Amino acid sequence: MDGLSRRSVLWGSSALGAVGALGIVAPSPAWSWSPSQSVIGAGTGMDPKYVWDDEADRIVAGLFERDEVDLVNDLLAGWTHNEQPLPAGLPSDLAAFLERARQLPSWTDQTKLTRVFDFYERRGLYLGILYGFGSGMMSCVIPREARAVYYSAGGADMKDRIAKTAKLGYDIGTKNAFGTGGQMVVTCLKTRLTHSAVRYLLPKSGHWKAGAEETLPISQADIMVTWHSLATFSRNKLDAWKVPMPAADSEAFLHLWQITAHMLGVKDEYIPATWVSANDQARQVLDPILAPTTEGKALAHILLNLAAEYDGGLTKPMLHAFARYCLGEQIATWLEIPKSPYDGMIKAGWPPFIKFREFGLALPLAPEGYWMFDEFLRQGVLFFLGEGKRVNITLPTGNNPN
Ligand code: HEM
Repeated sequence: MDGLSRRSVLWGSSALGAVGALGIVAPSPAWSWSPSQSVIGAGTGMDPKYVWDDEADRIVAGLFERDEVDLVNDLLAGWTHNEQPLPAGLPSDLAAFLERARQLPSWTDQTKLTRVFDFYERRGLYLGILYGFGSGMMSCVIPREARAVYYSAGGADMKDRIAKTAKLGYDIGTKNAFGTGGQMVVTCLKTRLTHSAVRYLLPKSGHWKAGAEETLPISQADIMVTWHSLATFSRNKLDAWKVPMPAADSEAFLHLWQITAHMLGVKDEYIPATWVSANDQARQVLDPILAPTTEGKALAHILLNLAAEYDGGLTKPMLHAFARYCLGEQIATWLEIPKSPYDGMIKAGWPPFIKFREFGLALPLAPEGYWMFDEFLRQGVLFFLGEGKRVNITLPTGNNPN
């Protein structure tokens, strides 16, 4: 898939290159993204496909070997807020690691982090839609991620998995996400430990091993692929949807995601300094790998059917239409998302809806039209977050048995 066709995916048009359309993916080019494009402007230049998270992996492997994972999950259940001290009784190596890893990087810019909440207040609706229907569904055409999710414990209980993932999507948009009162530091660190647990467990899964091209899952390159499917994709879509983006908003949004990557254990040399550098990297790590897989299609099917358990399938056509609109024709086709009677309405109604929200112009559709968009999101968030139940990210202790 070439750069142009990749841009078509990111920007939401339906065209993909013929190679991509056939699902025959060209081999990834050699890593050439320069660390000079990163937040710290320097680094080894090593291909992140072969870099994982050695320190966290070693500590989590120790927890499994000493049979301490359940104890750690119990102790960490009450650790929720950034400023909270670590619970007493944690194994000493884990406690020392978490104390170090909870520190924000030296390049943190508090002004940007303050501004980003103001941005979220104004644009959180669009970001919620993009994370849920764009990035969330796009993960189903990221083959390594789709297989890792499908064969890990979460693959057997996707509702639980989505609630936990939605927690990060929720925490990142709150006031002081990385400061006092926020929860993002804790959420990122629990996620980092979870990823290490997956690296320990998944290579023991015969199902995963049978299809995986990598020996160890969730490399730093894989994390950045997912990062682009969230951050870079959403940033580009906001432009495509003509949402006004003052430079300060754009930089604040990037900074939020830069800090998130750091707190998830990504080395600073792989974290892009600018959106231009982010798009450069995305073209290299994400463009060539998007493809359908059996596991990804199964996950997409599960995801799009989750709400039916509650509403008897009432919102399914709407979910399909939103997913198609956010992802574009090619990915929707890969994931076998059925055409929906709402496809035309969303396509025609969403741009004026954005204009309405941005400029206060009257919407040229019935008022029910724009109420529907808001209500739809509220329902979605309620659903994902389990109707008020507190969601806690825990280290998995096994793989998907199926
Ligand atoms: C778990 C976020 C990258 C595979 C999680 C969880 C979160 C999360 C919040 C906890 C939810 C849970 O335990 O179910 C992220 C973010 C990423 C990222 C923000 C990048 C920016 C990746 C990548 C892969 C991956 C690249 C695979 C290639 C998994 C798996 C689990 C997990 C298998 C555990 C599911 C289970 O419980 O069995 N991730 N993730 N993640 N993630 Fe990630």
